[in-house]
Amino acid sequence: MIGYRKDADAVAGLFVDNQIHRDAYISEEIFQLEQERVFARSWLYVGHESQVPAIGDYITLDLAGSPVIMIRHTDDSVRVLINRCAHKGAGVLSQPKGNAGRMLRCPYHAWCYKTDGSLLAVSLKAGYEDTGLDQSPASQGMSTPGGVATYRGFVFARLSKQGQSFHEYFGQALTALDNMADRSPQGELQIAGSCIRSVIRCNWKMYLENINDTVHPISVHESASATAGKVGQEFLETDPTALEQLLPFGAGYDFYTKMGARTLPNGHSILGTKFSIHTGYADVPSYRQSLEQAHGESRAQEILSFSPQNVVFYPSLATKGSPQIIRVLRPLSAGLTQLEVWAFQPKGAPDIMLKRGLTYSRLVFSPTSVVAHDDIHLFESQQASLAAAGNPWVNLQRQFNPAELGAGDCQFEDGNNELVMRNQHRAWHSMLMNPAGDQA
Ligand code: FES
Ligand SMILES: [Fe+2]
Repeated sequence: MIGYRKDADAVAGLFVDNQIHRDAYISEEIFQLEQERVFARSWLYVGHESQVPAIGDYITLDLAGSPVIMIRHTDDSVRVLINRCAHKGAGVLSQPKGNAGRMLRCPYHAWCYKTDGSLLAVSLKAGYEDTGLDQSPASQGMSTPGGVATYRGFVFARLSKQGQSFHEYFGQALTALDNMADRSPQGELQIAGSCIRSVIRCNWKMYLENINDTVHPISVHESASATAGKVGQEFLETDPTALEQLLPFGAGYDFYTKMGARTLPNGHSILGTKFSIHTGYADVPSYRQSLEQAHGESRAQEILSFSPQNVVFYPSLATKGSPQIIRVLRPLSAGLTQLEVWAFQPKGAPDIMLKRGLTYSRLVFSPTSVVAHDDIHLFESQQASLAAAGNPWVNLQRQFNPAELGAGDCQFEDGNNELVMRNQHRAWHSMLMNPAGDQA
């Protein structure tokens, strides 16, 4: 073991301009440092408020090593609490989702909390008289993350008290959440039931890089696209939604060189600022009309024409505006990453909009997918082979330009430029090299 925690030079040497060291992917020590310095200080996606529509509705999840609860408080606001009893630390809620009513009751010694986590009652209260309980941390109730923010229904939390404000952290990336929500004539999204959840034997950074990797589809997904084309020709009843979603996976290098991309500070990015593999989906006239009525003609056109391939909300979320899908990354260890794929129905939009999301999820991300398996095989092979003797570097040099160093917000045309990946690793590296979490 190198001892990265005590060796700032070794951490500094993990990423150099356009290549990243294999330990960034395979070292458990680096993974622990990432949890503390990258994930705890970043705004992480928690869930969507439509998952908890009624007072007392909750979900539980693990957020970068901390169990958390997202719950609808009695004042109708959505709260995020650390799922830890203030008494002796038991988890207060143990189900993945449910309704807690108007209070939470710890299953261990029955301390009770309001739905905002404040302490409501302790058992055998008389035994605490004159003990100074009201001065103890236990009297503060359940802990909350350092920051919680809801934007257009999307709920985020930052575990650490230190770090940038929500709006400063995401900046222009938030326009992509506006675009998703504004694809509803009512400006609101409804989550579609549960998600597709899988655990992949690879480092989370490989997955996030691949979300911006436009050079791989022509080689990795060529068979999926070609098979879709063949099936579409042979079987007249083939679902047109499936075909319009799968065929673009065969788009060649030229397609991506013109799609446009934008990197943003803190590792975020928009791939496909001009068009993407989702742009060619069939127009639905009644839908366009309802958007025009809701938002006006020019805003409706703007909403529909912005259809990026992927928007990365570094380091936990990637969105697809047009098929209304999000991918959520929950790293479990250096070599294990949990992925969740959620689809949305834009409220007030025709059912075909939800169908697009569900069809895309099934075809591209599910256990019966014809696309994801090809990627996962390669991520898992990367993870295994990076430990091999010899070259320790992963190369991210395509169209590297020394002038890009230090540039946060950068627009460019060529979607094959690996700047979209280098930008992620620069954010990662700068947080990792900052043990105290001082703000720049
Ligand atoms: S640990 Fe929760 S009431 Fe004791
Ligand atoms: Fe892929």
